[in-house]
Amino acid sequence: MLKLLAKKVRGYIHMGVEPTKRQQDHAVVGAVGMSVPHDSSELHVTGKATYTDDIVEPQGLLHVAVGMSSRPHAKITNIDLQAVLAAPGVVAVMTADDIPGENNFGPVIADDPILAPGLVEYVGQAVFAVAALTVNEARKAVQLANIEYEDLEAILEPREAIEKKSFVLPSETLERGDCRKAIGDAEHRLKGNVSLGGQDQFYLEGQIAMAEPAEDGDLVVYSSTQHPGEVQHRIAGAIGKQSKDVIVECRRMGGAFGGKESQPALIACIVGLMANKTGRACKLRLDRDVDMIMTGKRHDFIIGYEVGFDSNGKIEGIDFMFASRCGMSADLSGAINDRTMFHCDNAYFLENVRIVSHRCKTNTVSNTAFRGFGGPQGMFAIEYVIDDIARYLDKDVLEVRRCNFYGTDERNTTHYQQKIKDNVIAEIVDDLVDTADYRQRVEEIREFNQNSEVLKRGIALTPVKFGISFTATHLNQAGALLHVYADGTVHLNHGGTEMGQGLFTKVAQVVASELQIDIDQIKITAADTSKVPNASATAASAGSDLNGKAAQAAARKIKKRLIRFAAKHFAVSKKDVQFRNNEVHIAGENGGKCITFAEMTHLAWLARISLSATGFYRTPKIHYDRATFSGRPFYYFAYGAAVSEVIVDTLTGENRLLRVDILHDCGQSLNPAIDMGQIEGGFVQGAGWLTSEELFWDKDGALRTHAPSTYKIPACSDRPLDFRVRMLESTANRAKTIYRSKAVGEPPLMLALSVFHAIRDAIASVGKQRRIPRLQAPATPESILKAVMQQQAES
Ligand code: MTE
Ligand code: HPA
Ligand code: MOS
Repeated sequence: MLKLLAKKVRGYIHMGVEPTKRQQDHAVVGAVGMSVPHDSSELHVTGKATYTDDIVEPQGLLHVAVGMSSRPHAKITNIDLQAVLAAPGVVAVMTADDIPGENNFGPVIADDPILAPGLVEYVGQAVFAVAALTVNEARKAVQLANIEYEDLEAILEPREAIEKKSFVLPSETLERGDCRKAIGDAEHRLKGNVSLGGQDQFYLEGQIAMAEPAEDGDLVVYSSTQHPGEVQHRIAGAIGKQSKDVIVECRRMGGAFGGKESQPALIACIVGLMANKTGRACKLRLDRDVDMIMTGKRHDFIIGYEVGFDSNGKIEGIDFMFASRCGMSADLSGAINDRTMFHCDNAYFLENVRIVSHRCKTNTVSNTAFRGFGGPQGMFAIEYVIDDIARYLDKDVLEVRRCNFYGTDERNTTHYQQKIKDNVIAEIVDDLVDTADYRQRVEEIREFNQNSEVLKRGIALTPVKFGISFTATHLNQAGALLHVYADGTVHLNHGGTEMGQGLFTKVAQVVASELQIDIDQIKITAADTSKVPNASATAASAGSDLNGKAAQAAARKIKKRLIRFAAKHFAVSKKDVQFRNNEVHIAGENGGKCITFAEMTHLAWLARISLSATGFYRTPKIHYDRATFSGRPFYYFAYGAAVSEVIVDTLTGENRLLRVDILHDCGQSLNPAIDMGQIEGGFVQGAGWLTSEELFWDKDGALRTHAPSTYKIPACSDRPLDFRVRMLESTANRAKTIYRSKAVGEPPLMLALSVFHAIRDAIASVGKQRRIPRLQAPATPESILKAVMQQQAES
């Protein structure tokens, strides 16, 4: 117990968070609010955590490799796999013709073939699969295929797609007020466009699945997926069976970042089909290059805007055009582009606004979820416009931001008619301006730049407001399953998946707090479709909101039964039975007793009390009409702000992040240590998206940046040299979320918009005349140089 207590105290000290009196008196080890380490942290760092590829391989396992299309758009006129089949170690080959059920893994509409059905629509599309005795034999054999194509016209760029009206889904318009009139009547007007790059998720563990045949043609599948339920349904469809015939399990992913929301179904369907065909266990692990070529990424965008504003920079009217590269199919692009439309206000009130959103069909890989899910692209757009306005008026950018913030009364309703009731952005920004010495540093930087010809510094403060909930209302539901054993230990399961974000730890903390037992009495178990059915993807940052509540409901059911039983057993009233710190206290007339939680559960078992329960949760109060884009799609908003300072070499475009100050709102954090990790990691990942990560497709539609040699994610050395991250203190979520916490998975990524704008600020100081830097994202050294040269040429 002493050891546990020491751990408990350490948990607080680590984050410098003082435990409250109540926490000191009653907190069990691992209670909600404590900075307990991630449940697998020791396994992660010692290499002992079991990822899908580490699962002991079943006898007779076959390794699968995939043959990919070399054309962006073509009819397949002939597939000759003779040589493949004859290659050493090869046991089976499979094409679209061998699929007994549905040839589709698409998450929303059925336009994603598992294996190309005579038509290929991007370079890298899966055409056939090979199963062999070893990984190398399978991968080598794939090279021996002889596929003949008849090329068709390929559309490779969103701009071309707009011209040719090539869309995966209908274009959408969301309008409030009369933006054309407001722009026309405004004192000032600006018009422009900007391109914004995509991003590869670059999870460290690539896409992988292993399928094992079970009795009577059933399958047990281990998949690295954010959405085991969807993998289950798609495999069942592909092998011509039903959901009950397939079980999908995922203990953890080595990172996902949205890249494993829909894409794992492709990998898992291929192994499921191969296991079904051969009757042997099959495994498919994509190597990095194949993973990057074959699977979807963040959507790149073309953004057009026209804005009218007054002499303070207050926006009177704004007209936006968004065109995203969806790739060859719809995948999740509908919801992603909807989220772009919802987030192109960021923290600003747009009274008269029109947003046109084109979902371009191109002959490139189908783009998919990535942390922020379209939100970052919308927020990028409005921040870009605000920066333009400030530079045009030669005004302080921060003041222009401030005068456009959502306020109270009439200025607090979003363009999709949701009233904002929890706005803390002004407080966050005020605090950050103070603590980051923003004003003083702006002056210092101005002075520095006047005396420095080549090196230029820049600074920017940008806010984040991010809507929490799946915009598809029906997805906001979760289930949990809790077993309490007679020895007082607990088996915890819920529909959420673990991708490194600490969800399993947080949900276990909820159960520890509810049952008042130490967290090490709780076994955290793999997501499993046979324990919790129909679970949504772990996404939209809602994992702990949803699954935390579901697990809480299950724990409360069991606790209620135990209380009822104990009251009867000890002949006291129910309110005299209290669970505290691994014990059950019996007060009242016949009371004065105290037994351990384990003694309690043993008694309950003897008395034949059920110690197993399911829990269910659905987010209350949300509703939304897709046809009119109005309602309350989000239960609440997450807020934060960041100040970034950079230094740019205007001869080479090289740059460094000198200092970053962040203030982020996690509500009452379930686990401050984990949340700090999410803030830091999300920010750095966002900085990578906007500065160094660049996807390049050649004129034949082939992705040329498909390995770390050519695709640059941030390294340790790219983190800010001075990184100061704080969480907003003791702000309970106004919405009744689990222990009044706030979702934190995605929002911090968008704090990195400050990095892009700090670079833009540095470029703005080049040349003598005031100009608006035309910096395109990502702000790679090349992009920066281009903007610098334009700036010099025009001044
Ligand atoms: N953190 C880690 N370490 N690894 C990940 O893959 N994914 C992000 C975020 N943080 C991710 C992560 C994304 S895209 C989402 S939606 C959330 O975690 C999902 O988990 P949550 O809902 O439990 O926050
Ligand atoms: N966010 C993340 N994933 C999703 C969403 C969303 O809003 N909708 C469907 N999948
Ligand atoms: Mo996260 S992009 O919602 O998986």
